[in-house]
Amino acid sequence: DTAADLGARVLAWYDRDRRDLPWRARPGERPDPYAVWLSEIMLQQTTVAAVKPYYARFLDRWPTVEALAAAEDDAVMTAWAGLGYYARARNLLKCARAVTDHHGGRFPDTEEGLRVLPGVGAYTAAAIASICFGRHAVVVDGNVERVMARLFAVEEPLPAAKPILRAFADALTPIERAGDHAQAVMDLGATLCTPRSPACGLCPWRDACRGRRAGLAEHLPMKTPK
Ligand code: ADE
Repeated sequence: DTAADLGARVLAWYDRDRRDLPWRARPGERPDPYAVWLSEIMLQQTTVAAVKPYYARFLDRWPTVEALAAAEDDAVMTAWAGLGYYARARNLLKCARAVTDHHGGRFPDTEEGLRVLPGVGAYTAAAIASICFGRHAVVVDGNVERVMARLFAVEEPLPAAKPILRAFADALTPIERAGDHAQAVMDLGATLCTPRSPACGLCPWRDACRGRRAGLAEHLPMKTPK
């Protein structure tokens, strides 16, 4: 299978079976960068289920980046209470104020431009650049690492395997629809290619998956004991 074949298969699966998440635009439409940024920051150390009510409340109360920038610090910290990792909330406000004060209320549309914003790391910059602006950015989180380790039967343990897994993710990322591709692989990791008992029978990559063919899927990725 070529990268193009694999890419086409996972996009076809995504078009049919993608998760309907509140921060996703309708198919073919560009999502609001503010909404995507807010969701990606919230999702960093928190599950989709836990994020949903917070995400809805934040957008309801502060519907734009300018509105959030103008919020009182205490109001934002209180609204964040329960999500944990409070540095995220402090950076959220700093970032909203930076976008409002220094970028005219528009999120930068490149990975490099996004990367300098408070609280926006490599993962978040790549996610926003690809999902919102169609950039050919390589989005790698834990789900993507697991899917790549299985698809290519990478037995090198984490964290040493990270550069290899990133290189595979890069090679698979199409020029067109890079954001949909990234979200498709993340959905695959979240719904089928799960840490335990993966649902290989339903996977669009089941026939190509070297980990599955080697009977190793469930054991990958390996981890170096701490
Ligand atoms: N996890 C974090 N961001 C995500 C996204 N945009 N799609 C699917 N899973 C995610």
